[in-house]
Amino acid sequence: MLPSNSFDSEFSVSWTHRLRFTDSSFNDGTLDTLISTLSPLKILPVIDCGVTTNTAFMDDVTNWLANSVFETSKPRIVEGGEVSKNSMRVVDQVLEDINTNNLCRKSCVLVIGGGAVLDAVGYAASIAHRGIPIIRMPSTTLAQCDSGLGVKNAVNYFGKKNFVGVFDPPFGVVNDIRLLSSLDNRHWCSGLSEAVKVALIKDETFFEEIEQQSAQLLNRDLTAMGNAIQKSAILHLEHITNGGDPFERLNARPLDFGHWSAHKLEQITNNSLTHGEAVSIGLVIDIKCSVALGLLDNAIADRIVSVFAGINKIKAAIEYATVRCMPRGTCVCNIALHLTHCKQ
Ligand SMILES: NC(=O)c1ccc[n+]([C@@H]2O[C@H](COP(=O)([O-])OP(=O)(O)OC[C@H]3O[C@@H](n4cnc5c(N)ncnc54)[C@H](O)[C@@H]3O)[C@@H](O)[C@H]2O)c1
Ligand SMILES: [Zn+2]
Repeated sequence: MLPSNSFDSEFSVSWTHRLRFTDSSFNDGTLDTLISTLSPLKILPVIDCGVTTNTAFMDDVTNWLANSVFETSKPRIVEGGEVSKNSMRVVDQVLEDINTNNLCRKSCVLVIGGGAVLDAVGYAASIAHRGIPIIRMPSTTLAQCDSGLGVKNAVNYFGKKNFVGVFDPPFGVVNDIRLLSSLDNRHWCSGLSEAVKVALIKDETFFEEIEQQSAQLLNRDLTAMGNAIQKSAILHLEHITNGGDPFERLNARPLDFGHWSAHKLEQITNNSLTHGEAVSIGLVIDIKCSVALGLLDNAIADRIVSVFAGINKIKAAIEYATVRCMPRGTCVCNIALHLTHCKQ
């Protein structure tokens, strides 16, 4: 046989996706144990400025930094919310700190923040030295339910959502429920849309639980929220690790249910809608389209929409989107049509 000029050799990399739940991350050993597993030479803490309003939590951070056996740099406080990923400012700040503090690939970034800060800081850590391990402490309901577990890191660019980014899983994720006490009501509620999303895709019983618990969830019952977050986060984790397509190479992207229009809605409303609110609207659009296509029973669709109405002020959000983006009185299916025209 003639020698070939093509050589294909398959390889795979094994990865453990680590998820921890706690109500006292800095004192009960959860974080220290996770960090010891990684054993980094240095740690750069990066904190969402929204988190600094949580004084009890910040006291723990300060004590931990003062007494830690690990070598830690001065924490970098970054702006929070979508603005943190609407420019390269936060990415540049983190790259600068990685450089001036001489972090290497054997070091670690510890990021505490909402989904937007996790995305921007995760991107910076992924590109510095071609990848510095990161431990995430998601600080919003949405980030603890969903984005903290994700393997995607990105910032918005050319006015387009998540245009620049990488797939890169975190070393570990610590969901500390105490972080949520300082969240405003809007972000407390809107993050639940991602839990409803994963429940609709994966677990009917979980959807029914959210439906039955909506009053407690709305009234900031920490136990109800903790349960919903834990179930949602584990469903996400299992999808990523067992779903067969962690880096979304295939066409079906179930976790993006409702997101094609949500991302566009965030953009065309100049981020006046939170990501969670936009996802609620996006899910309603997809659900209503399914009814229109004869794929879903209208009674089921109404049941789902009323869950959103309970937890997420979806009615107000849909009206907002309708009035702002469309001629007054346009229905959600027309919003979908409009978005289809401007979808990239
Ligand atoms: N990478 C992924 O897989 C993925 C998945 C879903 C969503 N996302 C992204 O997540 C972002 C939305 O994240 P979000 O809903 O967490 O909101 P967010 O990150 O925009 O934060 C919302 C606000 O809450 C503040 N905040 C954060 N934690 C706080 C705390 N503990 N106490 C008080 N204030 C606090 C922030 O400073 C900000 O003002 C979007 O950019 C979305 O694209 C990413
Ligand atoms: Zn989302």
